[in-house]
Amino acid sequence: MISRQQVEAQLCDRQQAYVAFMCDHLKNWRAWAQASDRMERGEAVAREEVEPFFQTEYEWMRIALEMQARGEFDWSDPRLGKLFAAAAQTEFYRFWGDQITAIALEMADLANAGSLLEVGAGRGNLTATMLQKLTDRGSALPVVLTDAHQTLIDRQPQLAATYPDVPLQAQLWNFCEPPPAQLRDNLPRPVVAYERASITYATVGALEHLAAVADVVVLGDYFNYTGEQFGYDRISARVGVKPLMYADARPLLERLFDEVWEFDREATERLGVPNISLVIAWRNGV
Ligand SMILES: C[S@@+](CC[C@H](N)C(=O)[O-])C[C@H]1O[C@@H](n2cnc3c(N)ncnc32)[C@H](O)[C@@H]1O
Repeated sequence: MISRQQVEAQLCDRQQAYVAFMCDHLKNWRAWAQASDRMERGEAVAREEVEPFFQTEYEWMRIALEMQARGEFDWSDPRLGKLFAAAAQTEFYRFWGDQITAIALEMADLANAGSLLEVGAGRGNLTATMLQKLTDRGSALPVVLTDAHQTLIDRQPQLAATYPDVPLQAQLWNFCEPPPAQLRDNLPRPVVAYERASITYATVGALEHLAAVADVVVLGDYFNYTGEQFGYDRISARVGVKPLMYADARPLLERLFDEVWEFDREATERLGVPNISLVIAWRNGV
């Protein structure tokens, strides 16, 4: 049984630090949002005008607009691979990954978890953060990695060799589909699932499939909390990355889990920034 009070007591310092980080780094978010409106209208926006925190979004938008003008969006364009690799090394992405994995482990302790499940693991950047933490703790909690793409399966042997003390498996799973029986029936319960920036590429319906295997979910993703949208959101939607509306996610999470904690809601509400970036949900009977 994990009560709300237990979770809040365990995570309250971390939550305050997370909110403080977001308030500090996002305080000028509207300047970037308005610059993205101008880019959408075809106006020139110089890179120097955009705060470093938002420059990955700026680059993504520049490439997306250029491809749109050419008439097709090409996910295999090497500039995108380079951009995503660079994004994974930014201060925020590292902080985000550190917090997501730390919270997943704290929830795993509280739930006395039998396994960890990472969804949308991709090239294993977030995975490496988790595996390092498990190695530092001397933990042998099994980790199952999943993604819709083969890249993850190819990456697994290298991760397993770098972190030999952690029992590690990798399996293909498109979370727009229900989990394969092998996952649903064989993962040692309780299962703590965690992710970063992967549901963004799907729809909130994926939460239903996650809940079929996980007792606790730690969602590091950009959910649009206020409903306000800018050029950045519209251009991303045109190339197939639609904003995840929290108004759609919340009722689903509330139906699928007993407790839902919008970890950085205080920052979102204080700044009026559209997004919330970390949500934890769990069944308190685990
Ligand atoms: C931006 S990458 C993030 C990778 C990793 N989570 C990280 O933070 O380093 C997004 C990942 O989500 C995965 N993804 C997107 N849609 C998915 C789906 N429907 N099912 C499973 N994985 C998906 C992609 O294959 C990709 O690896």
